[in-house]
Amino acid sequence: MSAGKITVVGAGHVGEVCAQRLAEKELCREVVLIDIVEGIPQGKGLDQWQSAPVEGFDTMVTGANDYCPAEGSDLFIVTAGIARKPGMSRDDLLRTNAGIVRSVSSEIARVAPDAVVIVVSNPLDVMAYVARETTGFPRERVIGMAGVLDTARFRAFIAMELDVSVEDIQAMVLGGHGDTMVPLVSYTSVSGIPVSRLVGRARLDAIIERTRNGGAEIVKHLKTGSAYYAPSAAAVQMAESIVRDKRRILPAAAYLEGEYGQQGIYLGVPCKLGEGGLMEVVEVELTDSESAALAKSADHVRAVMASL
Ligand code: LAC
Repeated sequence: MSAGKITVVGAGHVGEVCAQRLAEKELCREVVLIDIVEGIPQGKGLDQWQSAPVEGFDTMVTGANDYCPAEGSDLFIVTAGIARKPGMSRDDLLRTNAGIVRSVSSEIARVAPDAVVIVVSNPLDVMAYVARETTGFPRERVIGMAGVLDTARFRAFIAMELDVSVEDIQAMVLGGHGDTMVPLVSYTSVSGIPVSRLVGRARLDAIIERTRNGGAEIVKHLKTGSAYYAPSAAAVQMAESIVRDKRRILPAAAYLEGEYGQQGIYLGVPCKLGEGGLMEVVEVELTDSESAALAKSADHVRAVMASL
């Protein structure tokens, strides 16, 4: 199973690596990379396509400055927007990126009214809201990426701590993509063994703190941009579950209609992703402190929305 066409909007680092990962995994017949800067998506697309004979994939990659080639896409990954500079919070990006995501979303609704949209632009939870509002798509077809990324960072740090394979670390990070994210220690395990049996509380707290600041840690190193390898891997894993109808349960930002006591906002929760996008928001029981942390995270997302 694979899609016909997937369009990646934004040919910056996240977008270009998304396109490459989609092509190398042959998740679709064609990848279209769109950016407003003339020549950049065309050049990157052609360069990627020229890697196909060596890497052995048949997914055609092309680039464009307009949305005509994106017509009829099954799925969009929206990465357009400005990235964080050191010292900037994700919320500082709010106004600029809201304008960008609005215009991208109206183009998507025009050329591919049946598409599924994965939003990656920051501040993530609010940009997903803007995309849903602008496209007018049902919540099943507008999903935000962040939980897989935050969870990947959490899993990577736990694997380092225990010196074991990342493959054996299962975890769930909920809440908004930001400092208020909620790593669920009670649902984190190492090959089924609760992580709290293997890592002491103080070390676990330090890992949680590092996970919360995972994005900022990369920005601090890079100085002129934010992370892209892990964010693109996360977005493509969501895309894969959707276009291959794998029905994986992945943490992602979904528009909540009462789940987890929240209504009318996007927030990271466990989502079943398959054909058509969001198949189900999976509700699990939370401890009192996890519930309180999730409510606080929701309040933060609401505050950012209000300032828009
Ligand atoms: C991060 C930014 C991209 O978490 O939000 O790396």
